[in-house]
Amino acid sequence: MTALLDLSDISKRYDANTGVLNGLNLTVSAGESVGIVGASGCGKSTLLNIVGTLDRPDSGSVVFDGIDVLKLGAMPLASFRNDRIGFVFQLHHLLPQCTVLENVLVPTLVKKVDEKERALQLLERVGLQDRLSHRPGQLSGGERQRVAVVRALINRPDLLLADEPTGALNRAGADELMELLLELNRAENLTLIMVTHSMRLAERLDRVLTVENGKLR
Ligand SMILES: Nc1ncnc2c1ncn2[C@@H]1O[C@H](COP(=O)(O)OP(=O)(O)O)[C@@H](O)[C@H]1O
Ligand SMILES: [Mg+2]
Repeated sequence: MTALLDLSDISKRYDANTGVLNGLNLTVSAGESVGIVGASGCGKSTLLNIVGTLDRPDSGSVVFDGIDVLKLGAMPLASFRNDRIGFVFQLHHLLPQCTVLENVLVPTLVKKVDEKERALQLLERVGLQDRLSHRPGQLSGGERQRVAVVRALINRPDLLLADEPTGALNRAGADELMELLLELNRAENLTLIMVTHSMRLAERLDRVLTVENGKLR
C-alpha cells in the first residue's frame, strides 16, 4: 500500500518548559483506519491538528500524498485542507441558525460547486433524510454528530480526522457513530484517524497507537 500520510520526527511545544510531541513518527496507508489513544493531555489533539494542517509542528515534516504541506502558503494550504481532509470534533460546531442541509453544504461554498445531490445522498445514507430543514438545536446529540460527519465528507476528502467524536454521546450513540465511520472507511476507502479514550471503540480500527512521552507506540 502507498502511504497517504507520513509524519517524520515531529516536535511541538506550546511554551518553553513542556514539549508535547517529541520526535514523533506516523505513517498511514490509504484506506487504513487508525485509533489514537493516550492519557488526557498527552498530545492527541495536538497531533491530530498537525495531521490536519490546522497547526504546525516546531520541527519535522508532514507529507500528505507526496505533498510537503508545511511548505504550502496560507491560501493553497486552506484549499488543500478543504478539499482533502474532513474533520469531526467532540462538539459538532454546526451553525445553529442554519438547517441541516445548509450546514453540510458550508464546505462547498468557497468552491462554487453545487453538491446538493451529494448532500441529500449522504444525509439519506446516515438516516437523516427527514431532518433536512431542522436546525441543530432540534436534533439529538447523535443526529448532530451524523450531520457533522456528512459535512466532513461533502468535499470527498481522502482523510477523515475525528477527535473524540463520540465523547459527548451515550454508549448507544457512540456505537452507532462508530459503525457509520467504519462503514465509510470500508465502502469509500476513506482513511480514518480517530482519537478516542474508549479502548473498546479504538480496537475496532485496523491499528491502535498510543501517544506517550511525545511519541507513538
Ligand atoms: N494552545 C495551547 N497552548 C498551550 N498549551 C496547550 C495548547 N493546546 C494544548 N496545550 C497543552 O498541550 C498538552 C497536550 O494537549 P492536547 O493535545 O489537547 O492533549 P489531549 O488531546 O491528548 O488531551 C496539554 O498539556 C495541554 O494543556
Ligand atoms: Mg484532546
